[in-house]
Amino acid sequence: MNKIGQMQPVSPKAIPIDFSRNFPPPSPVVQRALTEAFADLGRANIADAIRFPRFTGTVGDREAGATWLSQRLGQKPNAERVVLANGSQSILAMLMARFVKPGGVLLTEELTYPAIKPLSSLFGIGLRGVSMDVEGIDPESLDKACIELGNDARALYCMPTLHNPTSATMSEARRDDIAAVARRYDLWLFEDDIYGVLPEEAPPPLSLYAAERSWYILGLSKSLAAQLRVAYVVGPNSDISQDVFWPGVRTTNWMVAPLVAEVSSHWLTNGIGTEILRTVRAETLRRRAVAASMLPRVEISPSDFNYHLWIDLPDTWPLNLFVKATLEAGVAVGPGNSFAVNNQKGDRKFRIGLGVPQDQGELVCGLKVIASLLDAPSDQELQQ
Ligand SMILES: Cc1ncc(COP(=O)(O)O)c(C=O)c1O
Repeated sequence: MNKIGQMQPVSPKAIPIDFSRNFPPPSPVVQRALTEAFADLGRANIADAIRFPRFTGTVGDREAGATWLSQRLGQKPNAERVVLANGSQSILAMLMARFVKPGGVLLTEELTYPAIKPLSSLFGIGLRGVSMDVEGIDPESLDKACIELGNDARALYCMPTLHNPTSATMSEARRDDIAAVARRYDLWLFEDDIYGVLPEEAPPPLSLYAAERSWYILGLSKSLAAQLRVAYVVGPNSDISQDVFWPGVRTTNWMVAPLVAEVSSHWLTNGIGTEILRTVRAETLRRRAVAASMLPRVEISPSDFNYHLWIDLPDTWPLNLFVKATLEAGVAVGPGNSFAVNNQKGDRKFRIGLGVPQDQGELVCGLKVIASLLDAPSDQELQQ
């Protein structure tokens, strides 16, 4: 961990089994999908088409994205509202810079996607964590925070479906309540639905409850493949989408690389995206069942579709010693405090991502280490 509590990247070579990162399990379809896409694109002689920056994506890219987005939004959004970008992180950087601005405050869940911390600090933006319950953000706490912050409260970043790291999912009533608070205090909503496409059924996005102030972000990294690093954002209307992601904003990194845009549009239009998602879901269920059988004291429903688990640390283990002990045993886990926004909510927790292990052997071997350390007394305890 560094001084501001971020997880330090771990060299994949140094860590034989890495549960600290959160990527979809390997899909047998991805290699075929890439091979076919490159063969098709090669035959189509696309060199001229990818010669220049792609700005907000071509009409074809945005149409393909709009169709993919319709599985969550219920209907296909107008493609003019859709922008293709170089990952959700790039989209968030653009939205923070435009709508929160230096000195402003971004509200988040009290436990959040760790990258939000360095990203907001890059822009001189303050963060305020809001209390959560099993359904995610508590509307009353959000209301209270907005009163306290006054005009400094500019936007709420949240993950209403399969929140990272807790997996909390807001009910429809909760979404309605959060939207009402956002409207009351004129907050922008940055909805990160990167895990929301994993469940076969999930409540409608929060953005549908306050469309006039919502930026709905759906990245492909967690549902299809991190290999592409493409994300789609839907703004409140086409004018503002085009304005915020105006091609003239040339000095940032949000613009999608033309070649990956070609590949994603190819995947989304020829049905292979849906095929990959199906295999990711199936492998996720299989891995969750393995985890449920190997970590009997951890509450895991084998039938959910998220591949990250948020686990309580037994009283016997201080977090830093547990993380160190797992590393010494060749396994990396995500320390809970790296998700916390200026609070102690992650101090007795850790997250494991079941997706990175390459195969069943590696998964089982890593889970065995975690299971035995959860049952073992810590060194500190042994010395007492
Ligand atoms: C909640 C959340 N949002 C976004 C990302 C990154 O998305 P992208 O690869 O599209 O930038 C992650 C990756 O860990 C994440 O957990």
